[in-house]
Amino acid sequence: MARLSGRQKNMPNLQSQIALENVPKHIAIIMDGNGRWAKQKGMPRVLGHRSGVKSVREVTEAAAQIGVQYLTLYAFSTENWNRPPAEVTALMTLLVETIKGEIRDLNKNGVRLVAIGELSSLPSATYKTLMQGIEETKNNTRITLVLALNYSSKWELTQATRLIAEQVQAGTLKPEDISETTIETMLATRGIPDPDLLVRTSGEARLSNFLLWQLAYAELYFTPVFWPDFGKNELYEAILSYQKRERRFGQTSEQVDQKSS
Ligand code: IPE
Ligand code: IPE
Ligand code: MG
Repeated sequence: MARLSGRQKNMPNLQSQIALENVPKHIAIIMDGNGRWAKQKGMPRVLGHRSGVKSVREVTEAAAQIGVQYLTLYAFSTENWNRPPAEVTALMTLLVETIKGEIRDLNKNGVRLVAIGELSSLPSATYKTLMQGIEETKNNTRITLVLALNYSSKWELTQATRLIAEQVQAGTLKPEDISETTIETMLATRGIPDPDLLVRTSGEARLSNFLLWQLAYAELYFTPVFWPDFGKNELYEAILSYQKRERRFGQTSEQVDQKSS
């Protein structure tokens, strides 16, 4: 008899196993493995990126359906400029096409698009379309989709440091008044709660310069699945893993138990 994989066996029930009162408010995903997915199929890398768009659509809708409020997707890192120019161009073009093609559905599904990263350095067509997408979806409230584009954590923290230094120099901020909140308000993610769960696909177990400050207390989930194969059931699996964990925030297990009972 053919053995059912864990995925097949559990598929119909995964969503119903999720405790809706303990869904992560914010999930961040490092969407990785598009290139290897394509290579495995003997296809050019770019087709892997194209297939990845399907996963973005499916995961965004699945997340919204179970009440996730923020979904942050790492779409392009500052380090990704070092890829072959043709791949960079293809990615930027794909972004334009995707945002243009999705605006209607984003609005239909209540998705507010925002972006973090050094956006002004994006190619102008990408920047313009992105700004248009953000503007046209700004009143949606079902879920916020944060695209990390030309983003890196070290860039963000350097910017924040610069802003703080400028305020100190101008005399509007005293060094002794700098708090964690001060720093948070200088980050690209200001106003967005820290992720509760970080997912990385494709088997890599690293952060690749992503949200280093904001992930300080996130639960980390690594899966071997390549991003184009990551769909709603893989998202549910990640959430179920999250829900089995005890978030102690430095306290003892007994203290956490007391608080929740
Ligand atoms: C993630 O997939 C997409 C981006 C980084 C833009 P990759 O393109 O990194 O895929 P692999 O890691 O080469 O398989
Ligand atoms: C991280 O993936 C960046 C994005 C998913 C956009 P990479 O594939 O670029 O990461 P590294 O280089 O393998 O660490
Ligand atoms: Mg990669």
